[in-house]
Amino acid sequence: MTRLPTKNVDDIDLSDMAFWALPLAEREEAFAILRAERPLAAFAEPDFSGMSLHAPPPGRGYRAVTRHADVVEVSRHPELYSSSKGALSIIDLPEEMLEFFAGMISTDNPRHARLRRIVSSAFSPRRIAATGETVEAVAGRLIDRVAPLGECDFVTELAAPLSLEIICDMMGLPASEHATVFRCSNVLASSGDSEFLEPGDDPLEAMLSAGHEFVDLLARLRKFREVHPTDDLTTALISTNIDGEALTPAELASFFILLLTAGNETTRNSITHGLVALTEHPDQRALWQADPAGVARTGVDEIVRWASPVNWMRRTVTEDTTLSGVALEAGDKVLLFYGSANRDEDVFEDPYTFDVRRDPNPHVGFGAAGPHFCLGAHLARMEIDVMLRELLVRLPDIEASGEPVPAVSRFVNGIKHLPCSFTPTAPRA
Ligand code: HEM
Repeated sequence: MTRLPTKNVDDIDLSDMAFWALPLAEREEAFAILRAERPLAAFAEPDFSGMSLHAPPPGRGYRAVTRHADVVEVSRHPELYSSSKGALSIIDLPEEMLEFFAGMISTDNPRHARLRRIVSSAFSPRRIAATGETVEAVAGRLIDRVAPLGECDFVTELAAPLSLEIICDMMGLPASEHATVFRCSNVLASSGDSEFLEPGDDPLEAMLSAGHEFVDLLARLRKFREVHPTDDLTTALISTNIDGEALTPAELASFFILLLTAGNETTRNSITHGLVALTEHPDQRALWQADPAGVARTGVDEIVRWASPVNWMRRTVTEDTTLSGVALEAGDKVLLFYGSANRDEDVFEDPYTFDVRRDPNPHVGFGAAGPHFCLGAHLARMEIDVMLRELLVRLPDIEASGEPVPAVSRFVNGIKHLPCSFTPTAPRA
């Protein structure tokens, strides 16, 4: 894989996978150059035709929005910057894929508001606070399992199963289905990482078949829930009736897929980046350990700013306009680079310092204010808080003990594996 020099603005290519394989410090340097010299740089779209028979040819390119102020501006004007052509993909997806992946995140009003209303109450601060005991119980059980070992893979044993079990529980999925959800959501979110594909697999075909597995799972659960309704999210989705209208089968399927995948990778990666950051910054860890409840209020958001688990979301310009003095035409694509906005020197003092007491912290890790602001933000904050609190109490000297294995992805700032070690202890009675 080529290493790209990042010193010259003309050498930076955000569409080149090699860029996303560079060490984080080099990528951050490139974004600092873009913010300073070319904050709305234009890039050609990646060409996936060599990877998949289903890939459409690249479109006419996109602009990379790298400054905080511009990310905020675009997010708060959905009438000018639409999500309905697809928020999660640079290329315009083929019709059969849009059906699965155009959940509410890829819609505009009035459809977006109608869809979001169906599930928003389940994610309110009050409802999420009420799930606190479940999150504590799951975190406690996962820690019990590894406590006597003294070491483990932090991602696969602790961070990943926590977010997976919690969202599956909210959706009403039994433990027997967790492995399927884990596998399929990895395929969908990793978009082509060979670790999650069989040798020779066509990545777009693998994503489609993961989507189909979710649809089968939904069909089985739906049959059961129609006879045994509960207050889980799947029951809310299948029984919803707004102005006499139920969700169509495609809306139902894409909702189910979005809810099961959106929170998995993102929360897992935040918790994992959190352990790496606390290991690398023992002074910050000491602050957290001395006052877990007090520091979590600011520390959790600093972890999300630091990790910036989602690299970008896409919007499509609806009418000719200008952004920071750059003319944009209807149909132009813009990608909001959250990690870059979260290091913007104009907004954050010492943006490259990990400061668990940073306050205020107007990061855009969950997106900026606007209709699509992360629905799961309260849930994610609570999971990060509970997991770190439980870890620092139960395994007080836990630390990252080796290099993280990064996920090479344009879309997520992921860690696939992270060795960690701690003094072995007995599981709780
Ligand atoms: C630290 C963890 C998380 C991060 C960093 C994160 C990040 C994001 C971002 C950047 C967006 C897009 C915002 C925009 O386009 O303006 C988003 C939307 C969304 N997130 Fe999260 N997320 C996290 C956790 C979760 C969890 C736990 C769930 C639970 C299901 C979730 C569900 C969603 C949904 C459904 C949307 C679409 C909202 C809409 O279109 O109205 N997220 N998230």
